[in-house]
Amino acid sequence: RATALALPDIAARKGKDPLVCLTAYTTPVARLVDPHCDVVLVGDSLGMVLHGLPSTLGVTLDMMILHGQAVRRGVERAFMAVDMPFGSYEESPEQAFRNAAKVMTETGCAAVKLEGGVAMAETIRFLVARGIPVMAHIGLTPQAVNSFGGYAVQGRGEGAERILADARAVTDAGAFSVVLEKIPETLAARITDEIAIPTIGIGASPACDGQILVVDDMLGLFTDFRPKFVKRYAELGEAAAGAVAAYAEEVRARRFPAPEHVFADKPKAKSGTEG
Ligand code: KIV
Ligand code: NA
Repeated sequence: RATALALPDIAARKGKDPLVCLTAYTTPVARLVDPHCDVVLVGDSLGMVLHGLPSTLGVTLDMMILHGQAVRRGVERAFMAVDMPFGSYEESPEQAFRNAAKVMTETGCAAVKLEGGVAMAETIRFLVARGIPVMAHIGLTPQAVNSFGGYAVQGRGEGAERILADARAVTDAGAFSVVLEKIPETLAARITDEIAIPTIGIGASPACDGQILVVDDMLGLFTDFRPKFVKRYAELGEAAAGAVAAYAEEVRARRFPAPEHVFADKPKAKSGTEG
């Protein structure tokens, strides 16, 4: 099954219409976001959002592949990328290639994403030269939470030059786009202006060439944290809690199941196909 949007389509959006990107981890959510998105990312945020892990560090390659396969079944139009999880690519370009090739062949995704700038440039070059498109991810890189000591804004003051160097390094290494996470607007604008590949912002201002959010965050389904950069476009968590409470109440009151949910001994003449 071919995706309608290919790598050149994404790269060509530099400086043009904003790239609309969201995460997805399951087939139904992939089907929901696919018609509206240019890029669907199977993010390792799934560790926290779906599996209750305290950070993304415990996410495994098998988890990424399982969710990647589910998302692939729901994506027809969008360009699909899958995150490389912590520990699956940092050791060497060879390790990264072996695991990225496994992710691509077993999920059918079009690209992988990995965290890191200057330190990962050699690895990005190695993958790109061997047929694996890479989306880079710089600024706040959540897999480095233990090095950062938290999830603070990156690239303020003197840190700006380091992140600019990361942006240049991943561009020179051949990344086709780069996620900029949680950096000041002035820096995001400077990077977007300078590098030739699309920047995709999350907490990085409208200066970027595109935007991404964690889908469960913007739907109000994952509410453990509420970063400043998240806008809630729905409150599905509240709606779901209300539905579950209503169900519980009706079961306890024996109001559910109601007559329309109950099977008679013999099918009724006009009851349709459900017998
Ligand atoms: O894991 C993730 O969902 C991500 C995006 C938020 C960029 O890396
Ligand atoms: Na991620």
